[in-house]
Amino acid sequence: MNADELRSKYIEFFVSHGHARIEGKSLIPENDPTVLFTTAGMHPLVPYLLGEPHPAGNRLVDYQKCIRTGDIDSVGDPSHLTFFEMLGNWSLGDYFKEGAIKMSWEFLTSPKWLGIPAEKIGVTVFAGDENAPRDDESADVWRALGIPENRISYRPKEDNWWGPAGTTGPCGPDSEMFYDIGKESCGPDCGPGCSCGKWLEIWNDVFMQYNKNAQGVYEPLARKCVDTGMGIERTVTILNGKKSVYDTEVFASIIAAVTAAMGTAASGQGGSRDVYTYGTKTDTDRSIRIICDHVRSAAFILGDPRAISPSNVGAGYVLRRLIRRAVRHGRKLGIESLLPIAAAVVDKFGGPYPELAAARASIMDELAREEGKFLETLQKGEHEFEKLLPNLLKDSRKCMSGRLAFKLYDTYGFPIELTEELAAEKGMTVNREEFDEAFKKHQELSRAQGGQAFKGGLVDQGEMAVKYHTATHLLHKALRMVLGDHVGQKGSNITADRMRFDFSHGEPMTADQIKQVQAIVNEQITKDLPVTMEVSTLEAAKAAGAIALFGEKYESQVKVYTVGEGSNFFSKEVCGGPHVERTGTMGRFTIQKEQSSSAGVRRIRAVLE
Ligand code: SER
Repeated sequence: MNADELRSKYIEFFVSHGHARIEGKSLIPENDPTVLFTTAGMHPLVPYLLGEPHPAGNRLVDYQKCIRTGDIDSVGDPSHLTFFEMLGNWSLGDYFKEGAIKMSWEFLTSPKWLGIPAEKIGVTVFAGDENAPRDDESADVWRALGIPENRISYRPKEDNWWGPAGTTGPCGPDSEMFYDIGKESCGPDCGPGCSCGKWLEIWNDVFMQYNKNAQGVYEPLARKCVDTGMGIERTVTILNGKKSVYDTEVFASIIAAVTAAMGTAASGQGGSRDVYTYGTKTDTDRSIRIICDHVRSAAFILGDPRAISPSNVGAGYVLRRLIRRAVRHGRKLGIESLLPIAAAVVDKFGGPYPELAAARASIMDELAREEGKFLETLQKGEHEFEKLLPNLLKDSRKCMSGRLAFKLYDTYGFPIELTEELAAEKGMTVNREEFDEAFKKHQELSRAQGGQAFKGGLVDQGEMAVKYHTATHLLHKALRMVLGDHVGQKGSNITADRMRFDFSHGEPMTADQIKQVQAIVNEQITKDLPVTMEVSTLEAAKAAGAIALFGEKYESQVKVYTVGEGSNFFSKEVCGGPHVERTGTMGRFTIQKEQSSSAGVRRIRAVLE
């Protein structure tokens, strides 16, 4: 079973069980400043899990591209990935535990679908604690399906609970499905969920059953939802009995592109060397895995409808790190350019992700540009090192401080391995312990940020964020009225304290234009206009005068939000919501700043008070 088959079988199965197939969303979340990337299939669906009606109905299925960078430094081992695909099915107040579990079981075990032998499967359910009881309901369903008692493990919150940990919001127990690889159990306590390597997780059914309120009390939710997630790469690995995701067809053509690029560089140097066989040298394999994973992530970020460029902040910085780490490992293997590897990624995934194929040229351009910049950086780093050298050589122990090495890494992006290499050429060593310590601190910081981030995704649907969301619609329309119809939204970013709005416009706005736009927005707020939503097709929405973001993928049914009444409406936009019910609740709108964002794009920062 390869990834393409798994993807289509999953969709087909859930469609045959009354689910509407929806398109996966962008990798760059909209209106959610708490995360840099979409981290799970449920992430773009949070507003619907919180009660917003979904235009496609109450049963949904999709596959979603995801990026998690918390473990970026572990990539290189046989299991870690930064980019992955997640399959998911959702019930928005429709079926609950019994329905979800029975469908999961049928998909996993029926010969028509995955056909995994029933006796290979074990499950975990929530053990219960002071806040919520043991999930006997799920356990009963599993038992009724024939899972023996010794293949049902009861696990605590750390393992079998999903939702905001320290904050408020919807959450609940989950039930995870594991595949038993047939290895000897590690002891009497070994069972599904044990981390000894016998049990591999394939799927997670989350039952959003409670709302954790501000007092920390878990109140039962009136409208219960199901969120499930199955990682494609991991499942393909397990189903094919492979040890590592890099040993599956998902990566085969990408690894081949890497080894071919190694071969080219070698023969370019005059010798006709054999093409390296993946799996023969530990260090080389590690570099190959890093290149494969990082180039795949970078290509997907660069090929997203809401693509960003490498930069020194936020998601752009993550992208930069991915590319630079890949370049560095490429250099180690004698690879001159990552472009043929990126091309292999586009070839492999352009089918299920047509946006990737459409962006082929810009992916290659951006990648080539960043490769060039990094080579410059490396030269600068080498230059800095030369400048430090006379002082370094005075050190009687011939040891460069780890703090200095970290500074080179942090400021110039100069890799520690290169610092060590240069030092060695001068008969010196680097205090690696001190460097590792500084590095670890930096890593913990970014990990904490990555983790925190996601939880925010569930809670930042607060009242202020909703008001700012409606304000983006008013601002968008007002800008078009004042500047012209060439204005299109290029991005937006909302926190509870302010909004940012990026739009296409070739020159700075004049003070007068800013005043006019602000006045138009405030006028709509003062009029206390109703905000209404209707579901229609994209064509009908456009025909009715709705603005739809170019380059976004839409379902056959879309939600259209209208501000104002009847044919005299002020604005109409295709959008997932949520929005305020009346503009009068929004407060006073003030534009604080108008500046350049990138070529041809302006950025407005505004507040509601
Ligand atoms: N949200 C859950 C997860 O990410 C299930 O989709 O595992």
